[in-house]
Amino acid sequence: MNYKVAVIKGDGIGPEIVTEAQKVLDKAGEKFGFSLDYKEVLMGGASIDVHGIPLTDEAIADCKASDAVLMGAIGGNTSTSPWYKLEPSKRPEAGLLALRKALNLFANLRPAYLYEELKGACPLKEEITEGGFDMMIMRELTGGLYFGERKTIEENGVRKAYDSLTYDENEIRRIAKRGFDIAMKRNKKVTSVDKANVLDSSRLWRKVVEEVAKDYPEVSYEHMLVDNCAMQLVRDPKQFDVILTENMFGDILSDEASMVTGSIGMLSSASLNETKFGLYEPSHGSAPDIAGQNIANPIATILSAAMMLRFSFDLDEAADAIEAAVKKVLEDGYRTVDIMSEGMTKVGTKEMGDLICERL
Ligand code: IPM
Ligand code: MG
Repeated sequence: MNYKVAVIKGDGIGPEIVTEAQKVLDKAGEKFGFSLDYKEVLMGGASIDVHGIPLTDEAIADCKASDAVLMGAIGGNTSTSPWYKLEPSKRPEAGLLALRKALNLFANLRPAYLYEELKGACPLKEEITEGGFDMMIMRELTGGLYFGERKTIEENGVRKAYDSLTYDENEIRRIAKRGFDIAMKRNKKVTSVDKANVLDSSRLWRKVVEEVAKDYPEVSYEHMLVDNCAMQLVRDPKQFDVILTENMFGDILSDEASMVTGSIGMLSSASLNETKFGLYEPSHGSAPDIAGQNIANPIATILSAAMMLRFSFDLDEAADAIEAAVKKVLEDGYRTVDIMSEGMTKVGTKEMGDLICERL
């Protein structure tokens, strides 16, 4: 089988880590009998430098014409990069948001689990993490505060800014269904996170989640307020299976969840629409401070590539093999600098990609 993959290398460490992921994908293709045709697409700062805007119509069309999108990371240093002197709608992040919307990628899956081999990097006490944890953050990605009406005005000489948080029941229902579907394939527990003690949008969220839950009698579910959830993530992360939440809360909680694993450089993500199509990217950012030094950890991107094989192409066997190769490399004691610990062998970005290929 042959698949078309749009590749957005992006900014900062993006090009380096995506190159390693492509290397691993090609190796998996040789082994499992599939091939990938890559089409490079510019987005974010890389697109601003060439076209003056972070996302062109042509780039959207190239992504739509593909079977899936593989992405690195976008954006630069917000205090020093010239990209951030542009008006907000022309900055790198605006490109990513516009692409999510254009491709209708409403379901963002961010797995966070503790690798046995990396337990030492986890900032939580051992008694809290004993036995490990494994959760999936299911973040709504095309609604809420990110896409509500916003403006900055001046009223009687006073500057004033608005952002609005809107959800309709259909947007809530489709993400809730996805969350419960995923829970059915995992440990059958959904924690729906909201701020229903204050926000109307959260009260509607809660009602719709309750309606959806009726169709999944095997899944146990609970509601949790977002502030409590932020606290529970560090107090007892083991209690979570699927965390279902809206866009902004999901943005914040997924960074927190990734850090409790101790290794943000390890965590993958998938953004999906109603079809098999998806955009796959690491959960971390473009780390401009370490770009071009061959020290970035490519594993999150490699694991995102494995998610692409699994979710978009149904190549489960190849995806399993990539995940197993990553685990093996860790067992064999190889570490990039972000996850380095005593007694392990430190390797660079390229070497990590090669070591994973060797074990495939
Ligand atoms: C993420 C990022 C983005 C977001 C930024 C880059 C716009 O933080 O994917 O979590 O806020 O969604
Ligand atoms: Mg984020």
